[in-house]
Amino acid sequence: MVTMVNSLDFITVTESAALAASRWMGRGERDAADGAAVEKMREALGQMDIAGRIVIGEGERDEAPMLFIGEEVGRGGTPVDIAVDPVEGTNLVANGLPNSIAVMAIAERGGLLHAPDSYMKKLAVGPKAAPYVHLDASVRENLEAVANALDKPISDVCVVILDRPRHADLIREVREAGARIKLISDGDVDACIATAIESTGIHVAMGTGGAPEGVLAAAAIKCLGGNFMGRLQPRHQEEADRATAMGFGDLNRLLLIDDLVKSDNVIFCASGITDGDLVRGVRFFGNHARTHSILVHSNGTVRFIESVHRLGARPR
Ligand code: FBP
Repeated sequence: MVTMVNSLDFITVTESAALAASRWMGRGERDAADGAAVEKMREALGQMDIAGRIVIGEGERDEAPMLFIGEEVGRGGTPVDIAVDPVEGTNLVANGLPNSIAVMAIAERGGLLHAPDSYMKKLAVGPKAAPYVHLDASVRENLEAVANALDKPISDVCVVILDRPRHADLIREVREAGARIKLISDGDVDACIATAIESTGIHVAMGTGGAPEGVLAAAAIKCLGGNFMGRLQPRHQEEADRATAMGFGDLNRLLLIDDLVKSDNVIFCASGITDGDLVRGVRFFGNHARTHSILVHSNGTVRFIESVHRLGARPR
């Protein structure tokens, strides 16, 4: 059904968000960056010929004025479910650090898991290692499997992990197994997707991060032929209760990529806000700005798109 919409149009949505957020790069104001991106993303979605429904967004209706879960977007047309993160890596933008992106995934209705606002244990790899890893295998087993699949020594394998105290054991285990580590301060969507794109030099993403971000990453990885597995990790009882109340079912169940992204008809797009492993950030020149985006479709097409945008009159 998503094929009835011109998938190239979706890029304008993440481009708009990235352009707006990039104005706040390094200014120390994460909420302002997010607010600007949310507004522009919603405006762009409003111009699309879809009957869109936000399934992953800025929060519940009572806590987010725009792009809240359940909000209807678009001018009408193909019914689709939409997962958005107008700024994935708000701290990265606020501090001018790499790998912040504006992100969106679109699938037919019911095609994306409605992940609660909780944490998720995640494992992501690219297409070659996809059949050989498992979330419940040991770190060493998974890294050996990836090394074999990629025909590399383990010492060449690069694992991305969020730099958090909760990952101390994981980091120790990866080091003991002999793999290399790239610690990131934020932005695990970009990191997970990078595992499925050979030129990034990133082979595995491991650790616990946001659950909604897990669905977004899984959407891209499914299109790219990689593997993503997750398991919900509520931080406290209230979070677990909320997940149960929204009908999540067994909180402890293993979530395979097809559980996270049920649909085989998916589009994922992301535009760089700051420079990253996946895409470059927004550049301003003269009265123009250049954006760099990735658009992947479950039909196997991967597009990297560079766009030049004429900006409004410069304030004097
Ligand atoms: P935000 O853009 O919402 O700030 O999320 C950034 C992020 O780093 C995600 O990429 C990641 O999944 C999550 O936060 C990790 O959460 P925490 O900072 O609580 O460890």
